[in-house]
Amino acid sequence: MAHNIVASGADLAIVDTNLDEASRQRDAITEWLQRERPGSQTRVTAHYADVADPESVDACLAEVLDAHGSKTINGLVTSAGFTENFAAVEYPVDRMRRLWEVNVDGTYLFATAVAKHLMARNEQGSMVFIGSMSGSIVNVPQPQAPYNASKAAVRQLCASFSVEWAQAGIRVNCISPGYMLTALTEKILADKPALKAAWTSRIPQGRMGAPADLAGPVVFLLSDASGYVTGADLRVDGGYTVI
Ligand SMILES: NC(=O)c1ccc[n+]([C@@H]2O[C@H](COP(=O)([O-])OP(=O)(O)OC[C@H]3O[C@@H](n4cnc5c(N)ncnc54)[C@H](O)[C@@H]3O)[C@@H](O)[C@H]2O)c1
Repeated sequence: MAHNIVASGADLAIVDTNLDEASRQRDAITEWLQRERPGSQTRVTAHYADVADPESVDACLAEVLDAHGSKTINGLVTSAGFTENFAAVEYPVDRMRRLWEVNVDGTYLFATAVAKHLMARNEQGSMVFIGSMSGSIVNVPQPQAPYNASKAAVRQLCASFSVEWAQAGIRVNCISPGYMLTALTEKILADKPALKAAWTSRIPQGRMGAPADLAGPVVFLLSDASGYVTGADLRVDGGYTVI
C-alpha cells in the first residue's frame, strides 16, 4: 500500500511501534523512487507511535508535520492491528483489552487527531481504515472473538465518522481484507500449516491475497477518483464473504 501511495505521487509518513521495520520500508521505497523516478521530490519518512496511546499519537503527528515542512496531512490509512487465537472462555483478559486498544482505540485516536488537524486548517481529506472481513463474518476454524468484534467496531467507526465529517470535506472509508499473506498470517500458519488449505478451500478465487492486492483499492479510496464515496466498506477478499 505504501509503495502504491508513493507511486501515485504522494508524500508518505510510515508509522509503527516497530520503528526498525518502518525505517526498512522507508529505505526500500526511497530506493525504488531513486531508481524509477530520478529527481523525484517525494518525501518518505518513518516514525514511532503506539496508536493506542493518545500522547504518542499527538507527538507522532507533530513529528510528521515537522518532517514534512508542515504540509497538510490529507490522507490517512489506519492499519495497525493484530489478532490472537484463544477460545473465548480462555482468552486472557489483558490480551483482549490490548487487542481492543490497538485495533479500535488506535483507529479512533489517529483518525480523530488527523480530523482535528484538517478541521483546524479548513482542509479536506480522505481516510481509509483497514478493517477485516472478520468484522462481518466469523472465521473458522480458529477462535478469535475479540478480533472479529474489534473489526466490526472499526467498520462502524468508519460509518459514524463518515457522517460526522462529511460536511467538513473528510471522507472515511473502510477496506475489509480477506486472508492476506503477511507477517500476521505467516505467524499463524507457521504454528498450524494445515489452516492454509482450510482457508483457501473457502476462497472462490482459490488463493490467499497478497499485500499488493490492496494497493489499488487504497489509492482509489484516498484519491479524488472516489470523491463521492464515503462510509463504504470495500471487501477485498477473493470472494470469501460472497458465499
Ligand atoms: N493479514 C491478513 O490476513 C489480514 C486480513 C484482514 C485484515 N488484516 C488487518 O490488516 C492490518 C495489518 O495487518 P498485517 O497482516 O499487515 O499484520 P502485520 O503484523 O504484518 O502488521 C501490523 C503492524 O502493526 C504494527 N502495530 C501493532 N501494534 C501497534 C501499535 N500499538 N501502534 C502502532 N503500530 C502497531 C505492528 O508493529 C506491525 O508492523 C491489521 O489491522 C489486520 O487486522 C489483516
